[in-house]
This record gives sequence, C-alpha cells and structure tokens, in this order.
Amino acid sequence: MTRRSAIALALSLIASINSEAAIADPLDAAVGKALFDRQWIPAPSSTDGTDGLGPLFVSRSCTGCHARGEGAHVITRDDGITDIKGAVLRFGTADGATDPYYGLELQPNAVPGLLPEGSVSYLPELHYKLNGPALAKGVHAGVRLAPPLFGKAAFDDVADEEILRRADANARAGGAIKGRANVTPHGIGRYGWKAAHVSLEEQVAHAFAFDIGMSSQAFPLPYGDCTARETECLSMPNGESPLFQGRELSAAMVGVVASYLKTLKPRPATEASALFQATGCAACHAPTLTTRDGRNIPAFTDLLLHDMGPSLDDGVGEPGVKSFEWRTAPLINHGLPVEKRRYLHDGSAATVEEAVAKHCGEAEDSRVRFEALTGDDKKRLVDYVNGL
Ligand code: HEC
Ligand code: HEC
Repeated sequence: MTRRSAIALALSLIASINSEAAIADPLDAAVGKALFDRQWIPAPSSTDGTDGLGPLFVSRSCTGCHARGEGAHVITRDDGITDIKGAVLRFGTADGATDPYYGLELQPNAVPGLLPEGSVSYLPELHYKLNGPALAKGVHAGVRLAPPLFGKAAFDDVADEEILRRADANARAGGAIKGRANVTPHGIGRYGWKAAHVSLEEQVAHAFAFDIGMSSQAFPLPYGDCTARETECLSMPNGESPLFQGRELSAAMVGVVASYLKTLKPRPATEASALFQATGCAACHAPTLTTRDGRNIPAFTDLLLHDMGPSLDDGVGEPGVKSFEWRTAPLINHGLPVEKRRYLHDGSAATVEEAVAKHCGEAEDSRVRFEALTGDDKKRLVDYVNGL
C-alpha cells in the first residue's frame, strides 16, 4: 500500500466512526500528524478526503505556518529578501468587528480561477496591497505570528478555577498588574494571542476554517473567510461531503489533529530563576499551571489578558478584548534557533530585549526593573528566557 492510499484508508476509517475512543491514541496522533502536514487541494477532486481547500486561503496546510510544531520564523526568500513565514494579517476595529469585505484576515492565496485578496510582506516593516476595496472605516490591519505549539495542548487541561484564581489574586493585591480572564460565551479562553479560543479543538477547527478554508462541525464555513460581499468566492465549488458529516472535515478529523498536538512536548517544568522573579517577570509569566488532575505543566503564562499599553496597541480588537490587551505569551520551548525567532504578537521584536522594551501598561514596573539590571544580569536573564 502506498503512503497515499494508507492515509486515504485511515481517513475513511476515521470518517466512518464517531467515537475517537475507538482508536488507540498513538494511531490518532499519527493520523493527526498526517492531516497536520497534508497539503489540502481545491474541490472537487477525485479523492474526497483531501479536498475543500479555500476557495480563499492563507496556507494549504498547518505545516505551512507551524512546521514541526514551531511557530512563525524568519526566512530568506528566493529573491534574497528576509521576511517572516507563518504570519497572518488580521483585520478588525477596536471593538472587534471584522472587515465587511475581507472578513477576519487577509487571504493572500486562492484556488485557480479566483483572485486572492491581496499580498503581504512583514519585514523590514508591514507592507500590504489589497486587490479589492479599501478597508472599511475604523478597520485596522494587525500582524499575528503563528505561535509555537509545544506544550500548548496541556492548556486544555487547566481548570477555569485555576485561571480565575490568578485573576482574583491580581485584583486582591491591588497593584498595577490586573490580569483578567477572557470570559467568552463558551467558557474561559486559553488559546491565541488574545486567549480567544476556549479549547484546543475549537482552536484547531478555527485554524482549518480561517487559515486553510476547511469547514467542520464547529465552524461550518465551506467558504472559509469569504464574506457575503465576496460573491465570486461564494460561487466556487466546495468540498462538503456526506463522508464527513456534511462538512469538509469530520469532528473526528479535527480531534485527531488535536491528539497530534498533544505529542508536541515542551521542555520539563522548571522553577522561575531568582532573577526572573526579582525582575517581576514571573508575576505574569507564571512558570507552571496546575491541571484538573493535579499535574504542574510548564506554562510561563497566567493565561490572563493584560493591558500592555500603547506600544502594543495595533487598533485591532477582538470581541470582548481590547486592542491593547494580550494574553501573557507562554515562554515555553520556542523550538527555533535564536536567529530565526521573532517575538511578540506582530514579530516586531528580534530579541528578548526588544520584546521587553515594548512591555508597557501593566508591565511598566517590570520593564523598568529589567532596564536597570547590570549588563551581566541582563544577559543572564535573556539567556535564561531564551533557554526555556
Ligand atoms: C497561515 C498561518 C497558519 C496556519 C496555516 C495555521 N495556523 Fe495556527 N496559528 C496561526 C496564528 C497567526 C495563530 C495566532 C492567532 C491569533 O491568536 O490571532 C495561530 C494559533 C494556533 C494555536 C494556538 C497557540 C497558542 O499559543 O495559543 C494552535 C493550537 C494552532 N494555531 C494550531 C494550528 C493547526 C492545528 C493548524 C492547521 C489546522 C493551524 N494552526 C494552521 C497561524 C497559522
Ligand atoms: C504585566 C504582565 C507581564 C509582565 C510583568 C511581563 N510580561 Fe512578558 N509578556 C506579557 C504579554 C501580555 C506578552 C505578549 C505581548 C504581545 O505579544 O503583544 C508578553 C510577551 C513577552 C515576550 C515575547 C514572547 C513571544 O513568544 O513572542 C517575552 C520574551 C517576554 N514577554 C519576556 C518578559 C520578561 C523577560 C519579563 C520581565 C522583565 C516580562 N516579560 C514581564 C506580559 C508580561
């Protein structure tokens, strides 16, 4: 059996059962990895299990932005120009409304016969061109880097109470740090730069729908991020199929991708270094979080939203989250050599020092303490953060 037909068989197997529990975990993860790496193709195709891409899309695969579980990184393009691979350009108003024409994010790719929404490059600074009308009044464009995925699946196992407890502790302390949970209509958010997504599966289904253009039960959007105004996009074929519960992906397929993400392990949990504590970093970047079953997982985040001030305000809010509020970035296993990394939601920092320099708002005191460190201590702290 060729690799392709083995995958096709596994896919039809998964599509035919409803319970994920029927398959042993390692097989789930292996099939999940195949779906994570799969280059999806436009509908209609002869192999039902691989089509449904787009019609507009950012990337053909999860791997396109999160290769090996890593996040966005610096690349040198064929023309010798340096840019960031694995980022998206998000559209929104300060109140979290998306653009009425372009929707949630710029789709720089399209299936044959359809014009993409535009093009974008991120370095040395954001530059984008739209193929359609200008953005609506009040809609801003903001860069979002793909975060690394190591250790992230475990955030699913953190109880709401554990997140709320830290927000309460911030409030009781009465200091400048006032982290708050992102309480959404479906529960408390954990995933994404603004903690918008409540569960791993919701985040995965969202990525399939908006970044790749593949619909599922959770996001039944066969046209992905196409809006009602993008009539040409809406006239293209889609890949919805009875094989996949009437969608382009069955719930089980989304589930196995989440199973694969559970195999992307972080480095083992560590204590915060004395210097990291003394500089106030650990007040937000909490070294571990406790799961429902009592495990301490590496986190270096409190999963709370913080007001980071005007230096990190790009004008793009999300429902219930201000444009200057961000989830404490988990500092766990970046997985990339230092020279390929970019930091912060928009990749505007090339080093840890540059990232800290943009910490304002609730992180003001901590930044000031960092800047006051001796050269040796600053280097020790930066090396420590880079090694997490
Ligand atoms: C076009 C690039 C791109 C593609 C393709 C993509 N992602 Fe992402 N991913 C991102 C970005 C950008 C974010 C952060 C989004 C935000 O918060 O606004 C993200 C966030 C995530 C997160 C949350 C990480 C965290 O720190 O909370 C997970 C998990 C994830 N993606 C998994 C996936 C999976 C699985 C796929 C394939 C179905 C996928 N992504 C496809 C760019 C991408
Ligand atoms: C008030 C809470 C708070 C404090 C205190 C704080 N941070 Fe952060 N940190 C954040 C938030 C929120 C982000 C995400 C900001 C963004 O991307 O816009 C972040 C992002 C980062 C990043 C970028 C991570 C990435 O993956 O892009 C680094 C590095 C970092 N912080 C290091 C530190 C260090 C070192 C200290 C102590 C000197 C510190 N932080 C103190 C909240 C805090």
